[in-house]
Amino acid sequence: MVKGIVPAGGLGTRLMPLTAITHKHLLPVYDQLMIFYPLKSLIKAGIKDIMIITSPECENDYKRVLGNGESLGINLSYAFQEKPGGIAQAVGLAKDFVGKDKCVVLLGDNIFEDDITEAVENFKNQEKGARIFLKACSDAYRYAVAEVKDNKVISLIEKPKPEDAKSNLGQTGLYMYDNQLFDIISTLKPSKRGELEITDVQNQYLTQGTLEYEEVKGYWIDAGTIDSLYDASKLIRDKKKE
Ligand code: DAU
Repeated sequence: MVKGIVPAGGLGTRLMPLTAITHKHLLPVYDQLMIFYPLKSLIKAGIKDIMIITSPECENDYKRVLGNGESLGINLSYAFQEKPGGIAQAVGLAKDFVGKDKCVVLLGDNIFEDDITEAVENFKNQEKGARIFLKACSDAYRYAVAEVKDNKVISLIEKPKPEDAKSNLGQTGLYMYDNQLFDIISTLKPSKRGELEITDVQNQYLTQGTLEYEEVKGYWIDAGTIDSLYDASKLIRDKKKE
């Protein structure tokens, strides 16, 4: 079985003052709250057991909107991250929830046009390791930048300086892992920005030679800034009116 994890913690400081009252992932993106986009991508791909990781002060807001997931036809559970210590720290809280299964992590502020069903099926057939999803973009240095050769990732660097970016391939917030994930997270040390970095997890799989990748074809949005939140609403509205 494959379980779903949606990291939706963090402070949302880049979205202040919009996040003064509620959480970034509960802000609207055109006609839906942000959190519904990653949830619906996972649900469409057949993933029915999903855990949202968020901050404790927003527990009631999430439960009021999503409850136990029944209205979406899923089993939804929650874990709470006391402080935003990084995406890998948030994912680590899902250890017992994932148990012996594989998992798909989809960041709570990421919106994908692509149907990820085939990607999830490809991952189910992947014997071991992890799978990441890359998108060609002009500002890849804002994410992690991947260098690829002969259909393999040969380097992955979190937020390099623009002049040091090895390619225009940015790492999106969709990641798939086998059950080594939690052992790997337990070995991580905080980065310079004081976070357990998800890219450090990927790099351990890369060293093992078990990191696979796919390129994202449709649009992909990280809606974590005021401008990208606005752009996301506009893009989704335009697509719906086409
Ligand atoms: O969106 C894709 C990018 O997201 C990746 O390419 C990068 O490699 C990755 O580090 C990440 O970069 P960001 O700096 O944009 O991550 P951000 O802090 O915005 O967090 C992304 C999501 O993860 C957000 O929806 C909240 C959640 N999160 C974040 C942190 C730091 C948590 O649940 N807990 C946390 O401690």
